[in-house]
Amino acid sequence: MAALKGRNLLSLADLTAEEMNQLLITAAQIKSKEINPQCPQKILGLVFKKASTRTRVSFSAAMYKLGGQVIDLNANLTQIGRGESTADTARVLDKYLDVLAIRTFDQAEVEEFAKYSAVPVINALTDLEHPCQILADLLTVKEEFGQIEGLTMTYLGDGNNVAHSLILGCALVGMNVRIATPVGYEPDEAILKKANEIAQGRSEVLVTKDAKAAVEGSHTLYTDVWASMGQEDLAEKRIPIFEPYQINESAMAIADPKAIVLHCLPAHRGEEITEGVMEGPQSRIWAEAENRMHAQQALLAGVLGV
Ligand code: CP
Ligand code: NVA
Repeated sequence: MAALKGRNLLSLADLTAEEMNQLLITAAQIKSKEINPQCPQKILGLVFKKASTRTRVSFSAAMYKLGGQVIDLNANLTQIGRGESTADTARVLDKYLDVLAIRTFDQAEVEEFAKYSAVPVINALTDLEHPCQILADLLTVKEEFGQIEGLTMTYLGDGNNVAHSLILGCALVGMNVRIATPVGYEPDEAILKKANEIAQGRSEVLVTKDAKAAVEGSHTLYTDVWASMGQEDLAEKRIPIFEPYQINESAMAIADPKAIVLHCLPAHRGEEITEGVMEGPQSRIWAEAENRMHAQQALLAGVLGV
């Protein structure tokens, strides 16, 4: 993955289709132990301003498996929490670290980090995107179906960070993507425009309020929480608005019979997904969570040039 050496991953649109496909191949080879890239002595810094279980632990585990080290830069334990500027922080951290993964609110903040950092910066979730999540998701789809191009992905729920990266990721791999949201919760226009440019008519990017039409015949159903981190006070109000967008047994009945179900987690059972679907035979949610580690191991190896 020489092409990724020294590069940032702030948005999935930072990757070409070829780079995306190669990352998925490398991740699968790492998972099957066909390859075992190593980068001893390399250090990953984790700057997280929001809670995280999967991303924090899977990035750490991936780095240890590469033979490297991790430093947890919890914002409250560093001067970041006391307001030291991103520009100053980035120009100091890049002297100690080889790669940085950042989870924060504003996409502009990861862009600012990348502007001032001499080492690669990876978006570990912002309000706008969650690119690493979608690497794992598409790896899971590929494991299931063998090939992705021409299949259809349906996302039901909020047009949020996960939806945005999913739209871009599907466009990169040639998977049709249907996004069904309530009116007023549609994905970002600029992301849709970018996805259509990437897809170049090779695959479809559809946004609708009609959940049923979006699910019909689809090969993968995907959902996420109805209120993201930072929107907790809106959660109650959103429940009745989002109810028609739940992944439940009726949705499964009209999807492709071989369809799988994904959720980035954490989940709110009984809201965006039923307990039965989450624990049912078509759920690949636990494989998806595992794949976070393999996909990020491939990504870290790529940006570190090993
Ligand atoms: N899916 C995901 O990013 O989970 P965490 O918030 O636990 O990292
Ligand atoms: N959309 C969710 C994803 C969590 C992994 C959030 O931002 O909280």
